[in-house]
Amino acid sequence: MGKGFYIRKELAVTCVVAAVAAVAVIIALSVVYAQEKSKNEVTLPFTAGPDATSTFSPTPSTPKEPWMHFRLPDSLAPVSYNVTLWPRLEPIADNLYVFSGHSTVVIRCVRETDLILIHSNKLNLTTFEGHHAKLNGLNGATAPTLTKTWLEIPTQYLVIQLSSPLWAGNMYELFTQFTGELSDDLGGFYRSEYMEDGVKKVIATTQMQPTDARKAFPCFDEPAMKAVFHMTIIHAHGTVALSNAMNYNPVNITMAGQDLIQTSFQPTKIMSTYLLAFVVCDFTYIGTQPVLFSVQVRIWARRKAIEEGQGNYALEKTGPILKFFENYYNSSYPLKKSDQIAIPDFSAGAMENWGLITYRETALLYNPAMSSNGDKEWVVTVISHELAHMWFGNLVTMKWWNDLWLNEGFATYVSYLGANFAEPTWNMKELIVLNEIIGVMAVDALASSHPLSSNEKDIMRPDLITELFDSITYSKGAAVLRMLSEFITETTFSSGLHTYLEEFKYKNTVYTDLWKHLQMAVDKAGIPLPRPVEVIMNRWILQMGFPVVTINTQTGKITQKHFLLDPDSVVDTPSEFNYEWFVPVTWIKNGGAEQQYWLLEKEATNEDMILNTTGWLLANIDMKGFYRVNYDSENWERLLANSLFTFQAIPVINRAQIIDDTFNLAKAKMVNITLALRTTKFLSKEVEYMPWQIARNNLEYFFLMFDRSEVYGPMQAYTKKQVTPLFNHFKEITLNWTKNPEKHTDQYNQVNAVSLACSAGVEGCKELTTNWFKEWMKNPANNNITPNLKSTVYCNAIAAGGVQEWDFAWSMFKNATVASEAEKLMFALSCTKQPWLLNRYLRYSLDPEKIRKQDATSTITYIANNPIGQPLAWDFVRANWAHIFNNYGGGSFSFGRLIGGVTKRFSTEFEYKQLLQFKEDNAGQLGSASMALERALESTMANINWVAMNKEPVLEWFTSEASSPVS
Ligand SMILES: *[C@@H]1O[C@H](CO)[C@@H](O)[C@H](O)[C@H]1NC(C)=O
Ligand SMILES: *[C@@H]1O[C@H](CO)[C@@H](O)[C@H](O)[C@H]1NC(C)=O
Ligand SMILES: *[C@@H]1O[C@H](CO)[C@@H](O)[C@H](O)[C@H]1NC(C)=O
Ligand SMILES: *[C@@H]1O[C@H](CO)[C@@H](O)[C@H](O)[C@H]1NC(C)=O
Ligand SMILES: [Zn+2]
Repeated sequence: MGKGFYIRKELAVTCVVAAVAAVAVIIALSVVYAQEKSKNEVTLPFTAGPDATSTFSPTPSTPKEPWMHFRLPDSLAPVSYNVTLWPRLEPIADNLYVFSGHSTVVIRCVRETDLILIHSNKLNLTTFEGHHAKLNGLNGATAPTLTKTWLEIPTQYLVIQLSSPLWAGNMYELFTQFTGELSDDLGGFYRSEYMEDGVKKVIATTQMQPTDARKAFPCFDEPAMKAVFHMTIIHAHGTVALSNAMNYNPVNITMAGQDLIQTSFQPTKIMSTYLLAFVVCDFTYIGTQPVLFSVQVRIWARRKAIEEGQGNYALEKTGPILKFFENYYNSSYPLKKSDQIAIPDFSAGAMENWGLITYRETALLYNPAMSSNGDKEWVVTVISHELAHMWFGNLVTMKWWNDLWLNEGFATYVSYLGANFAEPTWNMKELIVLNEIIGVMAVDALASSHPLSSNEKDIMRPDLITELFDSITYSKGAAVLRMLSEFITETTFSSGLHTYLEEFKYKNTVYTDLWKHLQMAVDKAGIPLPRPVEVIMNRWILQMGFPVVTINTQTGKITQKHFLLDPDSVVDTPSEFNYEWFVPVTWIKNGGAEQQYWLLEKEATNEDMILNTTGWLLANIDMKGFYRVNYDSENWERLLANSLFTFQAIPVINRAQIIDDTFNLAKAKMVNITLALRTTKFLSKEVEYMPWQIARNNLEYFFLMFDRSEVYGPMQAYTKKQVTPLFNHFKEITLNWTKNPEKHTDQYNQVNAVSLACSAGVEGCKELTTNWFKEWMKNPANNNITPNLKSTVYCNAIAAGGVQEWDFAWSMFKNATVASEAEKLMFALSCTKQPWLLNRYLRYSLDPEKIRKQDATSTITYIANNPIGQPLAWDFVRANWAHIFNNYGGGSFSFGRLIGGVTKRFSTEFEYKQLLQFKEDNAGQLGSASMALERALESTMANINWVAMNKEPVLEWFTSEASSPVS
């Protein structure tokens, strides 16, 4: 799935209410874990019926009957399906929408069996002579009669018992007819709604991954059960039907007295059920004629959006990115067309359905007049991620969900290569460090992290599969594959991919198949490695966490140790590798050439790393390796001196790394917290984005912990001192804020400059932002605020203003036709300082007429980021828990994040007790939030300890720095 669990980072870091640098989604401290890991927790009720839980126990002893297993037996294999579906876009009763359909699946019997198990969930199956299906023999085979059929709710099967066996080698076809609800639950075949010219429009669309194809029609719903699909969709005149393959031959038909269109689709390639998609809508598209190459590319969206040109950027970039991947994989695009469609209600970021990729509107549509460069980057990276899957994931598919990390980690890594090709001036290959790697290090440094690779037998139930869609899977997966690609070279990496895709196309694999092909490529290229690819990589994927490498530049001694953010935490999962890694240590000395050293033991000595009386040493160049670095204090001092005075000798990624490593090492009590704070001193001379952003992410935690204490004043004074030169720099290069900086990363850093400056009270900042907003209020049809700064400006103006500003922003939010614009306003509305407005906004968040269900938990979380909103949001969540739990639990992907969001400032005994009370009061209705709650308890305790230990030295340091002259 495309980045389902991400929150847009740009929005998350632009709030400045009451001087809080809002929520840097990923901060390098353990509280983040509560948000990160739980982003994907979704309650997947096995059925809507009341008997769902009575027959299902979450930890069954080995079940006796085959239908009590969550995995299909290997006796039958689907060959092809013929599926006809008719979604009704008009309700048949009050808010009840349905679809009906029938399906014939051709089955090959692999092993003799008198039982058919086929997935079916929440479907009403028609019965024929008392049975839920009809069975025929093919090619002269005779079908046994059905003795008993029933729906096994807990495991989501249609169970068919037969009077005599199906014989190996024979073919059969199974017919089912069914109806289902086209509900708004964002899973399976579902409906999405939007307003156009005051008219409510309904579309039918799908989200199958991981286990919801079975909600659309009975099917063998496992990724290795690949088959060919012949789809037919019945729909109303004035609408269009889309699916994975090209539509053809629409004919007029009459059904139940209605004149309708029946659209057929060409047979698909051999593919997995989770990659199916079908949409009925009245959207329009822009497309290319197959000029560049023989693939037709179309971008579909709401008519207004296409007319306004919002699909143009996606269209412009899709062709080149497809071309890039054809080159990179050395393998042509497997399909004839590539449809990409923006869906108004969508739970993930995007979904790589083969040939019909579905997106959230913000991930596909871009409006140059309205959207920021961050919006644009989001579009190009998500498109790139999804297109990468067309080969890796779709053409060659993992055998089971336990290898999801390879699928998603890979797509995440190469999405930056594709985006870099599409936007060569953006430094996308560097931004992966900030967007993926640094953030996930904070998660993976906890004792409760988990290895990338899971055992197949541990990932059986749908809810456990869903849980795998986390940041470890996506971002750590990307980080270790990037590291591998760097040490075997990108060329070798891609030539291994090529032979892998060739061998396994239209088939399924396990991750060791990839290692085998990369090893072949390594051997062929003659790349020297100290161990085989598989042996090196096993250390990174089979055990959780990563090392901190400590280099002593006095003795040349180099050691590694499992890095844990909380030094008191206990790792209770043993690792067969004793938490040791094979570490590719890249390093430079005094700005010389880059060298590489393989650390293969717990401890080694490399005399080349010894420094004489002058000079410095820097390791993990460009953060190519997934590890942190510590040094002897002498080298730290030399690095800091260098950073402060001649820091251009240190690559920009490493200037960010020095900040991030020291803050994390301080948290782990491996260096003094003042060392970490001192790394931010060079920022007064820094204008590059990455060091600033990393510093901001790290200081975010200090604000969360201290923004209600006496540390706040000196901390603000120090921030003001550091950011003033940056603010002036941008004022100058934008000619008094009249033009955009040219460089992509400068555009980002301009946001940091304005946002931090306004919150720290830098002269001229507040006036700047409130005036811009006032001008817009005077003339709503004419918004001249530069799109990159919109979030910051809206937020600041609403924070400084009252009900007038709020109501204006609300009406603009309701009127917005560009999704990214609506998203910025939705966020900015949470910035007000007036409690009654915040309370009203909280109430709106649970009213689907006002805030889309997909956005409810984000809205509450945004409000909780505001120090004034935080206690209100906590009260609100407690008071409305039952309602939230029952109406927003499933499909929304962000349930656990809500708990993390509203509790992340918690740092007192009193708050800890409140959490315990909440847990007690709601026992039995916490579902998957219970894990998030456990983590919130753990984080709160960690915060209490951290504040106790660090408040005094931090206060002292900020106080003395704030009053000392600028260095
Ligand atoms: C199908 O019906 C539509 C609307 O009634 C009509 O415009 C169209 O010409 C018909 N097409 C055919 C092939 O009969
Ligand atoms: C940290 O450094 C400060 C200032 O250099 C010093 O006063 C303090 O004692 C150090 N703390 C520890 C735990 O070493
Ligand atoms: C920016 O504004 C200041 C004061 O208003 C003025 O002195 C300066 O010349 C302006 N700079 C540019 C590039 O317009
Ligand atoms: C909102 O949109 C409607 C219809 O497009 C328009 O009549 C109205 O003036 C707009 N409101 C604002 C505040 O722009
Ligand atoms: Zn993906």
